[in-house]
This record gives sequence, structure tokens and C-alpha cells, in this order.
Amino acid sequence: MEDSLWWKDGVIYQIYPRSYYDTTGDGIGDIPGIIQKLDHIADLGVDAIWLSPIYPSPDADFGYDVSDYCAIDPKFGSMADFERLLEEAHTRQLRVILDLVLNHTSEQHPWFRDARRGKDSKYRNYYIWAKPKAGGKPPNNWGSSFGGRAWTYDEASGEYYLHLFYKEQPDLNWRNPGVHDAMLDVFRFWCEKGVDGFRLDVFNLYYKHADLPDNPRRLIPRPPFGRRFDWQEHLYDYDQPELMPLLVEIREILDSYPQRYLVGETFPDNAEAAALYSAPGYLHAAFNFEFTHCPWSARRFRRAIHRWESLLGAEQWPTYVLGNHDVSRPASRFGREGDDDRLKVAAALLLSLRGTPFIYYGDEIGMRDIPIRRREDVLDPVGRRFWPLFKGRDGCRSPMQWTATQNAGFSTAEPWLPVHKNHVARNVASQRAEPASLLNFYRALLRLRREHGALRRGGLRLLAGMPRSVLAYRRETEEESLLILLNFSDRTQSFEHRDLDPGMWDLLFSSHPGEQVLGNEDRVQLAGNQVAILVGR
Ligand code: GLC
Repeated sequence: MEDSLWWKDGVIYQIYPRSYYDTTGDGIGDIPGIIQKLDHIADLGVDAIWLSPIYPSPDADFGYDVSDYCAIDPKFGSMADFERLLEEAHTRQLRVILDLVLNHTSEQHPWFRDARRGKDSKYRNYYIWAKPKAGGKPPNNWGSSFGGRAWTYDEASGEYYLHLFYKEQPDLNWRNPGVHDAMLDVFRFWCEKGVDGFRLDVFNLYYKHADLPDNPRRLIPRPPFGRRFDWQEHLYDYDQPELMPLLVEIREILDSYPQRYLVGETFPDNAEAAALYSAPGYLHAAFNFEFTHCPWSARRFRRAIHRWESLLGAEQWPTYVLGNHDVSRPASRFGREGDDDRLKVAAALLLSLRGTPFIYYGDEIGMRDIPIRRREDVLDPVGRRFWPLFKGRDGCRSPMQWTATQNAGFSTAEPWLPVHKNHVARNVASQRAEPASLLNFYRALLRLRREHGALRRGGLRLLAGMPRSVLAYRRETEEESLLILLNFSDRTQSFEHRDLDPGMWDLLFSSHPGEQVLGNEDRVQLAGNQVAILVGR
């Protein structure tokens, strides 16, 4: 059983459904669109797709505010479309992972609409209500991670309700058995349909301290933009002890079906907590977002890997992420228009570490964030609120660039977000045709991962004593030993290293075919931005 766990071997591709492919001509991507593009995904060589939320939602937070957990939003299609997606994906050996947003509902969820009717509502305690403090003040000092207070006053009942995100996303009261049981049924519902796993949105926020005490203030705020939220130690709103037994319960449900996978988003980014929640018996894995903050530096990436590996140890399984729907795209962070050399190094890093790599749609062709120039153009409410300090998350959510034609081949109508102007040169069709493209580089690496057990399951050992700009590690199983060399600099690196005896290694894969890596007077030679993977003799 252990040997065939797909998610250990697998690579997961994240789709933001609004932006993947529009078949109905309304400017918004949909499920039939994903079905039409499954061949692209299968051909890329990944093993699973994770869909950002597809449930009915008024879109205060573009799907992360759910009004029905067991249905499909009509803008994305029907339940029959979803069932067809499952079937078509499975035919291509692709697993399907859903995003479950169970910390909060939409304010339009029937539970909250009912809860708002008053204190007698049967659903009142599905949410967290509290009386004002003296002078009408909010019940405690908690802040919303989207800015301002985490409490909104309800005139009709004279109480506040809690929302750790937008006020349109009231937090559920997981201490209420009705909520707890309904949510566990959501897992069962989708498992019965044949869904292969779940990404749990901000799961470590489910439980809050029952007494709702004030959080202590920090002396120095956390980045990024000085919200009330950043000035607090989150002692009472997150990471409460009641969460651990709940994770065990959820895990037991998943384990009653074959090969289901659970990956959690610890919020805010916290590698220690992620390690704790992905210990054996809890989640299979949790995200670590450190790569999304690393500048283009071999040392910084090395440090992030070392930290994550040390926290997890050999038993636990890492995850690696270069980008997602909440952060600037890797190509915008460290790519350069003109060449994709750095993006190839980043791809090789992501796909050759120990752990499950996540690829965000469009990163396989080096899509950039769309520029957001005016406040009026911002759709993500968090961007409108913090403009111009933070322009929101629209940049990384633009439509997939399929072709050089109008709307990048994404839709016949004007897309919900503009397509990037660079789609004329940067798109799937042109990169498919170009052997040296980033897309073909991703495909080649993903093929290599399938062919080499050491890349999928091998242990990882970081090598020390390399030049500053070279990141090197070994991936080893009993049968095979691989050596990965990544040059983060534009300059050639030439060095000696005792681990790199030319007599012991053959070149297996290189971004610079024809360049000799080992051999000249016992020296290693890496061209600028070269990726080289060697195999032990
Ligand atoms: C997670 C999601 C983000 C969403 C937030 C609230 O961080 O990734 O997109 O806005 O949760 O649900």
C-alpha cells in the first residue's frame, strides 16, 4: 500500500477555474473548459489537479466564500459536468483534489442567513457571536487578516459576529456539534463522488479559544502591511489544541476510502505548525510557502530546504510551492523577459526535491502577473482596501495563455481579468512548437521524475562547500544515486569538489546540452544558469 501512494510520487497542478478555459463565452473559465484542456495537463506529465473552489459563491473572495459545500456554481457548470471531469481525469490517470473552505462560509450561506434572523435561530451558534464590551466596543482585539477588526456589529441582535477574513466570510463555530457533523459529511459527500483529495483552506483557524480572550500585542509587527492583525501574537484565534483530534477524525474518514489525500494550508505561513499538522496520523502534508518569499539566491533556497527537511525528518513528506493564487508569480519575482533560464533552474529545483511539488497553472509557460495600474481596475477586495501599498492578488490570477490570438485563446468574450499582453509571444501553442521552451523543459523534467525512483522517493542530502551561487544535492534510493547541480548565476562556475569525482558520475539531464559538466582536470564546470542532473555509476 505504502508503495503505491500516488501523492508521494505525484506532482500536483493547481487550477484557478475562473481563469483556465471558458467554453460558454461569458469570460469566466468553467469545468467543461478544464475537461477540454485535460490533454494539455496529462501531456505536461503531472499526476493530479487541485481546483480552487468551484462551489456556489457570491464571490466576495472569488470562491473562498462558499454558500453551498455540496454543489457546483452554475458559472462553472453542473454537477454532471463535474462528474464528467472526474471520469475524464481518471481515464487519463489524473487525480482530482478539491479545495475545502471550512473555516468560514459566505454570508449568503443559508446557515448564516438564518443565524442573522436572531438569537433564536437554530443556526445562530453555527457562528461565533458575542456581546459588545462596555461602550459598544468589539468583544476582543482580534484583527481580520484582510484588514481592520475581525468583528462586525449586527444591529438587529445587538451582537458582533467574528470573521477572520472579510465580513462577508463569517467564521464557523466548530465547537458546535451541528457544524462539526455537517463538515465531516462534506468530506464523505465528495469522497463518495470519487474525489481523490482535499486542500484545506486555513484549517488551523477552525478552532478559536472558547473564551475569546484578547491576543497579546507584538512589539514589532509582522510584515507585510501593518494591519491590526500583524501587531498581534495569534495565541487565541489560531492553532488551538482541539484541532489535533479533529484532524485525526477527518483523516479516519479519508482513510476509509482508498488513497485519499489531505493537504493543509497553515495560515499565516508557518513551517513549524505545518510540520506539526502533517505528523503521522494527521494530514498527509501541509504547505510550506517559504519558496514564495525567497529572493533569487542559491543560499536562500538552500536554507529554506534545510529548515523544512529538519522540521519534517525522514518520516514526513514535504511539499514545495513556487506560486499560487495568493502570491506574485515566480516569473514576475525572478524571471526576465528575453530568456527563461532562471525559470528553468526554478523548475528543476521544484521538481527534483524530496516531496510533492505543486505547479500553479501558467507557471509552466512562465506567465507573468498582469500589471495593475489603477485602483478602479482592482477586483480583489484586499487590493482595493490596501491600495497602493498592496495591489491585491489579481496579478497572478489572469487567464491562461493558450494561443497568440485574441484573449489568448482563453475565451471568445472579454475575460473577467485582462490577459497579459505578452500572450502574443508567451503561450502554450508557441511553446509546444519550440523544443527549447520552458514548457518542454517542464515536460522533460516531469518525464525524468517518472523514470527515476530516486527523484520521486529518494532521500535528500544537501551538499556543502559549493560556490555561493550553486545549489547541489543528492537524491538517493538503494538502487540509484542522483546528483542535482543548479547554477543560480549567469556566470560560468568552475570548481573542485570531493563529492564530484568525474569517474563516478554520468550526465543524465542538462539544460545546456553539449556543455561538459565533469571531466576537465577533475573540475566541475557549470554554464551560467545551468541545470545538470548526474547519475552515479
Ligand atoms: C486562503 C486562500 C485565499 C483566501 C483565504 C480566505 O488563504 O488561499 O485565497 O482568500 O484563505 O479563505
